[in-house]
Amino acid sequence: MTAVEIAKGVFWVGAIDWDIRNFHGYETRKGTTYNAYLILDKKTVLVDTVKEPYKETLVENISKITSLEKLDYVIVNHVEPDHSGSLEHVMQHAKNAIIVTSKRGKDELEKYYSTNGWNFQVVKTGDEINLGSRTLTFVEVPMLHWPDSMFTFLKENMILMPNDAFGQHLATSQRFDDQVDQSLLMNEAAKYFANILMPYSLLIPRKIEEIRRLGIEPKIIAPSHGVIWRSNPEKIVKAYIDWSEGKTRSKAVIVYDTMWGSTKKMADAICLTIGNRGVEVHLFNMRKSDYAEVLKEILESKAVILGSSTLNSSMLPSISAFLTYVIGLRPKNKIWACFGSYGWGGGAVRTIMEMLKAAKFDVIEPTVQVQFAPSREELKMCRDLGQKIADAILGSANTKGQVALKEVEENDIED
Ligand code: FEO
Repeated sequence: MTAVEIAKGVFWVGAIDWDIRNFHGYETRKGTTYNAYLILDKKTVLVDTVKEPYKETLVENISKITSLEKLDYVIVNHVEPDHSGSLEHVMQHAKNAIIVTSKRGKDELEKYYSTNGWNFQVVKTGDEINLGSRTLTFVEVPMLHWPDSMFTFLKENMILMPNDAFGQHLATSQRFDDQVDQSLLMNEAAKYFANILMPYSLLIPRKIEEIRRLGIEPKIIAPSHGVIWRSNPEKIVKAYIDWSEGKTRSKAVIVYDTMWGSTKKMADAICLTIGNRGVEVHLFNMRKSDYAEVLKEILESKAVILGSSTLNSSMLPSISAFLTYVIGLRPKNKIWACFGSYGWGGGAVRTIMEMLKAAKFDVIEPTVQVQFAPSREELKMCRDLGQKIADAILGSANTKGQVALKEVEENDIED
């Protein structure tokens, strides 16, 4: 993919990574892109670079428009190596370029690279650089999602370049939002938010407000991963506000692993009960599912139910690893429950509950635990847990039709 002009004198010069399938633990089944932007004015500017293996692609794309030697500024919105990995290569040619970054950005660049001889210009929120006929404005956005993170706004073209924010891990030959399937796009944007930005949810509405107060109302949002939002940038901004406020719908996610099938039977009983109440429910066996997809489903869910067989007085490793991951992402406005099976001493349910409570998650009790294999009575306990969760999701209103559904459900369950 060669350079693409996204507005007069503004070019996408990035790279498409069709192959990547894991981004520090985030399974990227659709690959990704590393977007960099070139602005031609009296001054020539490169906004961000690309991951190091794609440095020649970046240089080739730039070379079709200008030469690296002519760069006056290189903006580093974010130091993570998927965006700064080609910086040393660029700076070997762009000897006169000034690197524009936040204070933390400069500190981090000096840790990552040999910066001897590089000229820096440290910027803070509201600072501007005049390019001739156009102006760049900078906004610091610390912890969205690194301390160094910064947005760059090209004022006259009303293009916001927010680096990771509003991105999607989506490799495509298309560069714009209106050229790709909308449900795929929002799915990947939601997955990206859930797995990268969710821990910083509190900051997002505040930052969006601050940006609006600065008079920044972008017509185009050009992130550093995935496609560029040009048809309706407000759509992704609104989605970010909803997700960061923890907006949920009538939906539950069950995540489990099973040793000999007992915990699976329990999971199936809970799943069927919740589904029969008209609640959207997703069931994931964590030994066969990827974290990123599960987190995307959790994002708008009201309930998360965790199940595990006991192994060595604790939960199965897939559930332990997943719990560590999900607790770190701090999902908001959920209720949590758990269930599991054991042979003799038990431990899975206890250790899951300890972790949920230590994370200060809102937990529904009692849990359901069964020895070896669930009896009819114990499967009824699982269905009761499912009813309780459905009640909590639906509130007290939706009782009509519940009896009929319950009858169907009891006949549906294989003990
Ligand atoms: Fe796309 Fe935080 O790097």
